[in-house]
Amino acid sequence: MSLLSQEVPIELGERSYRIVIGGGLLGDSLTYGALPRANAALIVSNTTVAPLYSSTLKTALAGRYSRILEVHLPDGEEHKNWQSLQLIFDVLLEHGCDRKTVLFALGGGVVGDMTGFAAASYMRGVPFVQVPTTLLSQVDSSVGGKTGINHPLGKNMIGAFYQPLQVICDLDVLATLPAREFSAGLAEVIKYGPIADMDFFDWLERFMDDLLIHDGGALAHAVRRSCEIKAAVVGQDERESGLRAILNFGHTFGHAVEAGMGYGVWLHGEGVSVGMVMAAEMSCRLGLVDSVFVKRLVALIRRAGLPIRAPILDSADNAGRYLQLMRGDKKSEAGEIRFVVINRPGEAVVMSAPDALVREVIDTCCQ
Ligand code: NAD
Ligand code: GLY
Repeated sequence: MSLLSQEVPIELGERSYRIVIGGGLLGDSLTYGALPRANAALIVSNTTVAPLYSSTLKTALAGRYSRILEVHLPDGEEHKNWQSLQLIFDVLLEHGCDRKTVLFALGGGVVGDMTGFAAASYMRGVPFVQVPTTLLSQVDSSVGGKTGINHPLGKNMIGAFYQPLQVICDLDVLATLPAREFSAGLAEVIKYGPIADMDFFDWLERFMDDLLIHDGGALAHAVRRSCEIKAAVVGQDERESGLRAILNFGHTFGHAVEAGMGYGVWLHGEGVSVGMVMAAEMSCRLGLVDSVFVKRLVALIRRAGLPIRAPILDSADNAGRYLQLMRGDKKSEAGEIRFVVINRPGEAVVMSAPDALVREVIDTCCQ
């Protein structure tokens, strides 16, 4: 394993695991040294990532597993569904895979969420490893055990909490990530500042330009600090009975954008970025933060190459359409929409808000 690699522990009792972060991890067999041996491993990837990285992973795993199977799913958020999940189960069953088979999720959040859900449900649970290849999946989706698929009526509506055995964040693979996807990942990095750590937010303001040119040291710090914050939150509230909901800052509005535009049109991170602007605007209108804070957040999001204005979803009743979509989100309770607002910079709370205020925010923030 690279001497420069770093580890972030995630403390969940018997489900504890390590997030390993560094360069050159993917192809180094030592990276996988602590994983259980088994007859078979299945690498789940997609048609974009597999040609780039699956042979490297396969070679590194060759000494540990006598059979290494692969399945390449269609690429895209619109394929995060039952049909793709079924492709994973087809391979597992056709090859007689037993319950010790280890699944490796090699890809972004879509592959990771689906592989985790397949692992949670195949034979009522088989081990899996997250090998995230997007910035977003390295700093967020691969950590914490949320797995699942979309339903045409709502995002991530079907799934399970199921923790991986290990998360392997090889920073080198980010070199092939399209710039738009890299920026989408930065949205989830930026998120951690307002909700948990304004020193990290200050650091992002100083080093955003280094991140945008993939400076190794800056990337390592951003991924590690993001994972540390997420690990601390998940360690206290694994199944989102309270605190973990703060990680959804920007997601209530953001999921409405993603669903309202049609999955895949706006990237998840792009939805989150305008969602954060809207949630910050709401926090300001509630008197919790000042306009200086909102301006700083907007400026950082813009510098990251992300959108700051939300799209019009319905020219006849735009705010009504947002409200309708947000009521259908799984974070709403008995039809009451829940928003993560910034209580003060570096601290978030979850609350509901009157429709009139939500409409004002939407009207202010939409194009
Ligand atoms: P993604 O998985 O769709 O990946 C983005 C694109 O980049 C895809 O086209 C993919 O094939 C490509 N790609 C991936 N790695 C690459 C690489 N190294 N080089 C070149 N191309 C590469 O999107 P994402 O942003 O990683 O994840 C978004 C998903 O994550 C959403 O479905 C969202 O709901 C989910 N998510 C889950 C959690 C969670 O806690 N489980 C948290 C946040 C987001
Ligand atoms: N991305 C939100 C969470 O993991 O809880």
